[in-house]
Amino acid sequence: MNVLDLFKLSGQTALVTGGARGLGRQMALALAEAGADVAICDRLPTEGHAVAAELAALGRRSCFAQVDVTHPPAIDAFVRQVVADLGKIDILVNNAGMPSDGLALEEEPDDAWQRMLDTNLSSMFYVGKRVARQMIDRGQGGVIINLASINAWVISNITPRHNVPYCVAKAGVAQLTRGMATDWAPYNIRVNAIAPGTMLTAQTAASRQHPEIVARILANTPMKRYGEEEEIKGLVVYLASPASSFMTGSVVVMDGGTTLW
Ligand SMILES: NC(=O)c1ccc[n+]([C@@H]2O[C@H](COP(=O)([O-])OP(=O)(O)OC[C@H]3O[C@@H](n4cnc5c(N)ncnc54)[C@H](O)[C@@H]3O)[C@@H](O)[C@H]2O)c1
Repeated sequence: MNVLDLFKLSGQTALVTGGARGLGRQMALALAEAGADVAICDRLPTEGHAVAAELAALGRRSCFAQVDVTHPPAIDAFVRQVVADLGKIDILVNNAGMPSDGLALEEEPDDAWQRMLDTNLSSMFYVGKRVARQMIDRGQGGVIINLASINAWVISNITPRHNVPYCVAKAGVAQLTRGMATDWAPYNIRVNAIAPGTMLTAQTAASRQHPEIVARILANTPMKRYGEEEEIKGLVVYLASPASSFMTGSVVVMDGGTTLW
């Protein structure tokens, strides 16, 4: 087979959580450009419907639903809807996430800690389990991609505070990825994670208002720049496609070299 054919996703169906903007939107567009039908969910209805229209304009079947990925009953309903509307789910991208409030641990309210873990870690279990069950029942295998972060390894040093709840949740995503890969390998479900460095999205918009934080990020990064949203497109198609057919349990860093120093 020609190597470029390994990256094609024709006939596949993908589900991207948090697909209404940022990296989720870019990954949804990338999967559609590679040939997949794509369902997205998000908390943001206006942006979500707009991305579904962009996906349809690429000639793919698409759907959007307003879903909070921390609420299992809503996820149950959405997975049922995607299977009813698009037939199946071959590819799941667990992308929805939120930034930290930047408080030091001794000031972090208990409920904010719980919300961080629920949104950035438990949601990937809630959605992953339900989609994996659908994949196991179909017996055709599948692919799951979780969004981790370089903060799975390193504590953030870009703010006066260190965003520890976010770092802890993303460390959990890395280990959840390895656990899912282990449990679901017998069903031919491959599970990998992407660990981006600092990207130009809404998640980093607040910190970019502070010149000293921007200077510290650029000093920390050998490539001396933030990542552009679009730069995630090639990696997600690689991990979703047969091009990565012997990879599972990997957490792939994409950070302009930040974690080299
Ligand atoms: N931007 C970065 O620098 C960076 C770095 C490393 C990892 N990441 C991770 O990449 C993923 C995407 O981040 P982004 O930068 O595109 O951020 P973003 O804020 O632009 O997009 C996140 C999307 O998730 C949605 N979302 C959040 N909570 C949700 C919930 N409970 N239910 C449904 N949808 C929800 C938001 O509405 C938004 O559309 C996140 O998991 C993030 O932690 C981002």
